[in-house]
Amino acid sequence: MTDTILVTGGTGFIGSHAVVSLQQAGYRVQILDNLCNSDIKVLDAIASITKTRPDFMEGDIRDGNLLAKIFDKRRFGAVMHFAGLKAVGESSAMPLAYYDNNVNGSVQLLTAMQQAGLKNFIFSSSATVYGEPQKLPLTEDHPRSSTNPYGHTKLVIEDILANLRNSDNAWRIACLRYFNPVGAHPSGLIGEAPQGVPNNLMPFVAQVAAGQRPNLQVYGNDYDTPDGTGVRDYIHVMDLADGHVKALDYCLKAQPGLTTVNLGTGKGYSVLEVIAAFEQASGKPVPYQVVARRPGDVGACWASTTKAFDLLGWRAEKCLDDMCQDAWRWELSRHDV
Ligand code: NAD
Ligand code: UFG
Repeated sequence: MTDTILVTGGTGFIGSHAVVSLQQAGYRVQILDNLCNSDIKVLDAIASITKTRPDFMEGDIRDGNLLAKIFDKRRFGAVMHFAGLKAVGESSAMPLAYYDNNVNGSVQLLTAMQQAGLKNFIFSSSATVYGEPQKLPLTEDHPRSSTNPYGHTKLVIEDILANLRNSDNAWRIACLRYFNPVGAHPSGLIGEAPQGVPNNLMPFVAQVAAGQRPNLQVYGNDYDTPDGTGVRDYIHVMDLADGHVKALDYCLKAQPGLTTVNLGTGKGYSVLEVIAAFEQASGKPVPYQVVARRPGDVGACWASTTKAFDLLGWRAEKCLDDMCQDAWRWELSRHDV
């Protein structure tokens, strides 16, 4: 078994943090990324943190010829697959781009792996596959549904992975359902760099605290939650990254099969609690106004973490204050505030 891992999307937000954790756990890393939503400078930042520059190939996961060459040239222990498009709103405007990038891209990647005889695969799924929660906390056997094309691509890829595993029991697959990844590496050298107006709460709050935007719009305060605002299970991206290493170790050691695991903290925070924690961490005000609910949002969502702990021996360690402090350090590293 080789200890080199192919990381698709490894210069992106979650992928770059996973590369750091993989290197620190002793794995070598080859990144494949087309840089459609990330910057090549991330490689320098990773090298500053880990003292090892990951190998990098600029290219697209939909390019079957390129994939065949990559698998021909080097043997890998596993593939960690982060590459994909992830904006919910954009997916409704450009569904074909999402099915092509996410579903077709995954099929191309899995096909090339099968041809190369490499059957160890870690997939970035999402809590979005649970749809409207029927019961909290969300356990992995909760019924799945999707309300937008992005979420549907995750459902379809999960089904493809189940079909693949049923067709050939040599596959070892971990399907990791992330809750709400936030924060940044504590060095402030890598983090989330959304292009344009951030869709997600934490990067938006950070930009308001930094004076880049005048105020935050809070999408509804009439949910059935303690303060009426939406509740989510925010997870520090370094905890998430460590969860990937644990899932990889598990996959490589356990019997072949497909395992689906939540990666969350098991604790939900409301929008107003996030605002207060960020104000505390940054020492800056975060002005906000309450507006109508955002279509498609659920009221509350948090993970059952039992399976992740029982199977992988993993649980998230960092709290909301850590998430806000690290997100703020990353924000400060990018602007004069
Ligand atoms: P990101 O956009 O920061 O990273 C994705 C990376 O993939 C980028 O570097 C991009 O350039 C690359 N990429 C996209 N399409 C590609 C292609 N066809 N070929 C090669 N490279 C390509 O996103 P992220 O937040 O790091 O998310 C990583 C994965 O986790 C995605 O699959 C996403 O759907 C999933 N996920 C993210 C969240 C979240 O809130 N960030 C939540 C649940 C699941
Ligand atoms: N929110 C605001 N104002 C904003 C942005 C968000 O009030 O400007 C609220 C939302 O209404 C929600 C909470 O903050 O209550 C969190 O919203 P995010 O957009 O940060 O996160 P979501 O839970 O809506 O979605 C995220 C990803 C999805 C993923 C899902 C589950 O964007 O891709 O987590 O993992 F599927």
